[in-house]
Amino acid sequence: MRDCKVSHLKSILRLKKILITGGAGFIGSHVVRRFVSNYPDYQIVNLDKLTYAGNLLNLKDVENESNYRFVKGDIVDAAFIDEFFAQEKFDAVIHLAAESHVDRSITSPLDFVMTNVMGTVNLLNAAKKYWKDNLVNNRFYHVSTDEVYGTLGEEGMFTEKTAYDPHSPYSASKASSDHFVRAYQDTYGLNTVISNCSNNYGSYHFPEKLIPLAINNIKNNNPIPVYGKGENIRDWLWVEDHARAIDVIFHQAKSSSTYNVGGHNEWKNIDLIHLLCKIMDKKLGHDAGTSQKLITFVTDRAGHDLRYAIDSTKLQNELGWAPSLQFEEGLEKTVEWYLSNDEWLYSVTSGSYQSYYQAQYTDR
Ligand code: NAD
Ligand code: TYD
Repeated sequence: MRDCKVSHLKSILRLKKILITGGAGFIGSHVVRRFVSNYPDYQIVNLDKLTYAGNLLNLKDVENESNYRFVKGDIVDAAFIDEFFAQEKFDAVIHLAAESHVDRSITSPLDFVMTNVMGTVNLLNAAKKYWKDNLVNNRFYHVSTDEVYGTLGEEGMFTEKTAYDPHSPYSASKASSDHFVRAYQDTYGLNTVISNCSNNYGSYHFPEKLIPLAINNIKNNNPIPVYGKGENIRDWLWVEDHARAIDVIFHQAKSSSTYNVGGHNEWKNIDLIHLLCKIMDKKLGHDAGTSQKLITFVTDRAGHDLRYAIDSTKLQNELGWAPSLQFEEGLEKTVEWYLSNDEWLYSVTSGSYQSYYQAQYTDR
């Protein structure tokens, strides 16, 4: 068993030229930074369309590294992807590029079908075609979400065996892409791995998602919109712990395996917002209770999943991964990052963010 694991590890470690898709986004930028810094003998190519969510400022600190290259391109463009694979001869793919925000998926579901489903299938087709002589030793790692499992009631957790039951157009598109990845493993013998992770938080998080949106609004003395009664529960994981999980899974997981990644860290939205308000008051030097006054309950999200909770026992037992940070500490670090990165925050909230915010929150 041990020998088999070691020889498998060796064959995967041979992988030298890695395509990371969506590397200019929130999680992707942490994965790119980690791989560029920790594996100087790998060549890391970051393919990103630079949608509203992609930002090269996220990778300023590694942009000149000799083992890193950025390519602007669209995974939905099948001809481009085919040509790109023909030229680059990748050994492995870590696929993160996606439309990732549930609220946007409710307004524009087709964008999610195109990028998350079509884009993933385009990458799978190129991998199948250009790896056909060595399918076993190349690796296609698909980064997915716990939202494919649907919603939990008050009890239980998602395991790798939980049946898929997506409710939002976002989670339906991610579930579909997961199924395609498995279909390419089963039908064509592609070496695939999938991980399904809970909600991430940390630096470089685009302020359309709850935590960075609330930080930005408190900073600017604007209302904090809490959907419904704030009773929905999410399981929060520090983004750098997710990037470390991706590293471990990429290098050590057996072909066709799936791992759940999560923080064992469930928070009701309203409790999380109260904690965030407390931290913001402290960091901004405001009287206790100041930020809390900004909490505003607004119309609930349609089809709002009640609770997510991930059981990551398999990842912990088989590959020895565990979250490294307590949530209170991670949230404090995150707040500090946002308060000392004004330029980044300004660059992502000026321009089209303003019209998005108006459309999403005015009269809600
Ligand atoms: P993000 O929205 O911050 O980044 C997505 C990136 O993909 C952006 O850089 C964007 O420019 C790029 N992209 C979008 N469409 C593209 C296209 N057609 N071609 C090329 N690039 C394109 O997303 P994120 O939060 O970093 O999530 C990354 C991945 O992790 C996604 O697949 C998401 O489903 C998954 N995930 C996210 C979370 C989370 O909490 N954010 C949790 C679990 C899983
Ligand atoms: P979000 O960060 O969008 O992640 P996801 O929907 O993928 O879990 O939302 C996290 C939770 O916060 C979710 O229950 C919806 C809620 N929420 C608000 O209450 N207000 C907001 O402005 C946003 C963006 C989210």
